[in-house]
Amino acid sequence: MKEILTEQERQYIIEAIQNGEPIPLDFKYKLFPIAQKEYELNYAGKMRKQDILRGEDGVLPVPLQVEKVFNGERELFSDGWRNMIVFGDNLQFLKTCYQNTDDLVRNQIKGKVKLIYIDPPFGTGDDYEGNKGQKGYTAKRKSADFVEFIRRRLIIAKEILATDGTIMVRQGYNFGHYIKIVLDEIFGKTNFINEIVVNRGKQRLGGSKKFSTATDTIFFYSVSEKNYTFNPFKRARYIGEATGTNMLMKGERNPPSRIFIDPNGETVTLLPPANTHWKFVQIKIDEMYKKGVMYLAKSQKGLNSGIRKVEKDGITTPVDYVPSFKFDEDKTIDANWTDITGYDATTGYPTENSESLLERVISTTTNAGDIVLDFFGGSGTTAAVAEKLGRKWIVCDIGKLSFYTMQKRILSIQDSKDIQKPSKKYSNQAKSFITVNVGSYDLTKLFELGKEKYIQFVLRLFEIEQYKQNKSIKGYEISGERSGSYCLVWEFWKYKEDANVDISFLEELHQNIGSRIGKRFYIIAPANAIDFISDYYEIEDVRYYFLKVPYQIIQELHKQEFKKFRQPQSQTKINDLDDAIGFHFMREPEVKSSFNNNELIINSFRSNFTEEGTNREMDNFESLSMVIVDTNFNGKEFAMSRHFFAEDLLKAKKKQKNIEEGTEEDIEEGIKAELKQQKQLIIPLIGHNQRICVKYIDIYGNEFTEEFTTK
Ligand SMILES: C[S@@+](CC[C@H](N)C(=O)[O-])C[C@H]1O[C@@H](n2cnc3c(N)ncnc32)[C@H](O)[C@@H]1O
Repeated sequence: MKEILTEQERQYIIEAIQNGEPIPLDFKYKLFPIAQKEYELNYAGKMRKQDILRGEDGVLPVPLQVEKVFNGERELFSDGWRNMIVFGDNLQFLKTCYQNTDDLVRNQIKGKVKLIYIDPPFGTGDDYEGNKGQKGYTAKRKSADFVEFIRRRLIIAKEILATDGTIMVRQGYNFGHYIKIVLDEIFGKTNFINEIVVNRGKQRLGGSKKFSTATDTIFFYSVSEKNYTFNPFKRARYIGEATGTNMLMKGERNPPSRIFIDPNGETVTLLPPANTHWKFVQIKIDEMYKKGVMYLAKSQKGLNSGIRKVEKDGITTPVDYVPSFKFDEDKTIDANWTDITGYDATTGYPTENSESLLERVISTTTNAGDIVLDFFGGSGTTAAVAEKLGRKWIVCDIGKLSFYTMQKRILSIQDSKDIQKPSKKYSNQAKSFITVNVGSYDLTKLFELGKEKYIQFVLRLFEIEQYKQNKSIKGYEISGERSGSYCLVWEFWKYKEDANVDISFLEELHQNIGSRIGKRFYIIAPANAIDFISDYYEIEDVRYYFLKVPYQIIQELHKQEFKKFRQPQSQTKINDLDDAIGFHFMREPEVKSSFNNNELIINSFRSNFTEEGTNREMDNFESLSMVIVDTNFNGKEFAMSRHFFAEDLLKAKKKQKNIEEGTEEDIEEGIKAELKQQKQLIIPLIGHNQRICVKYIDIYGNEFTEEFTTK
């Protein structure tokens, strides 16, 4: 319905604007008529799809850095594909796949992912209440933030799914209904396939006035209405389940009679009771006799069942049996999956989904060799099951604990249960896989990449569009441009150690090409090779901008200030939502520690980053997120066997106090305050083997690794 402003309304609005008064919200749809869908979810901060795809949210594609190749010598898929564990914010990763230029993913992922399964944190609305100050407002904003956080990811996710792909999104009771509306908006209502009901792990006690919550939901959507994979899934019948049923159905059909075989082995023509018919046609009944699944069961109503036998002379007489058939041994499942557990606890990572659940998810929607993506990886159930079922997989998570849990799970997959025969071990080692960093990078590895890859990486980092072939201006190699301004990558390997991007370099450059490069010129070089503290240097009217590696933010170039994602300091915060803007280079924290008498003693821990927001140097232990240990280190691959959050290392009494009192922020502040007070942190490590590998992780995900060898 098109609503038109009346003359009176127009005058009213004009006056309101002239007087600087707000216009009442009632005019919303009249002033901004939208191609209104039947319904849609509106909330503060909802961004247009096009803007999200274009990066107006400040989140842009970033380069991918391979951290390690695991099982490199083992078999690959025939096309050379390696499975992937990605560490970082999934929105950055999805956008990188969507952009489709990074060598690692180019033409491999976008449009090729057959299934996305995600189980994002549920955004439990209640937890947001109790924030200091603007209580109601904060709670509401946070709810909308949660929906928008998921929506932005789903928008990009759809773009990288194959045209015959599907997505399953697990949600709890808090926000599931909002997320379904968002899914309708993104995938289209007609592409909604099922709402699957699964068991919750912890049942919330209902109390006296409500039911306890027992289930979660998985929303199942496809990209296109008809063209997607769906393999019906069969399960064995449970003891006590019906094994057969009779053939009676409501409503009459013509002809009503069918031929069966009576208990004496004679053929018999039977009529169903009034207002009913026999479920199957004659051919099907004959086939079922051949398969041995048809039989005549004794009727509970005896001769009063209404079933009649047609005699030769056309007379009918009552019989006391009813045609029935045995079910198949297996039963095809429907959308109620409460017969299996929804969660499991094999890895120690909270919210670990059960492998039997993922088996259903993956085997119904994909075939061997298809790509499965889970960008809220958690403990890596999707990866483990995809591996066991011969699918290709990619998992991504922002948490270090998740990253090392997944790594360990895949590295030791041979010792986990077989999917088809859970009483047996899976026994096969995982195919080769890689670990990948997105948004936080290892500088040493970057400088070791070799010319071509280094140039590609740094250009991508600074959002410079790379030319297919370098432009040469008087011998200077121009590798790409940003908004029409040229960019030169300073090839540090060509210069002597003491050579720098200094005044004389710039003056020479300017003299040679200054008149041919416009008003801005970008130079990418290692930070220690740039002699200038400022972001740019001007000669005549040309500004030479320095893009330093590792990165220092040049505000002018970015829509939004960079933000690192945070690692939790306590187990209770593992499932928090977090995200990142931009990227950073990792810097090892400084650690002083020793290992004596089965105890790891940490005397000091300091992050090499200042606190984001305040720029304050953090005190001893204050920035510690967690310590993870491989107590049986093989000298090659770190396989985490124990983890300790900073909070776990506080004295038991203090920890308890923190948990009992206050809001989430209070608790976080409490942990930090307690950590600062500590003189030493001690971790007992009884039951270790000779080689121990320890990783100390700060709140920004930077690690310091050390090894101890004991007698
Ligand atoms: C409920 S868990 C997933 C559990 C998983 N399905 C399993 O079977 O173990 C949600 C995960 O989302 C991760 N997460 C939260 N924000 C993220 C982000 N921006 N990018 C990637 N992962 C994120 C959390 O670290 C957490 O591990």
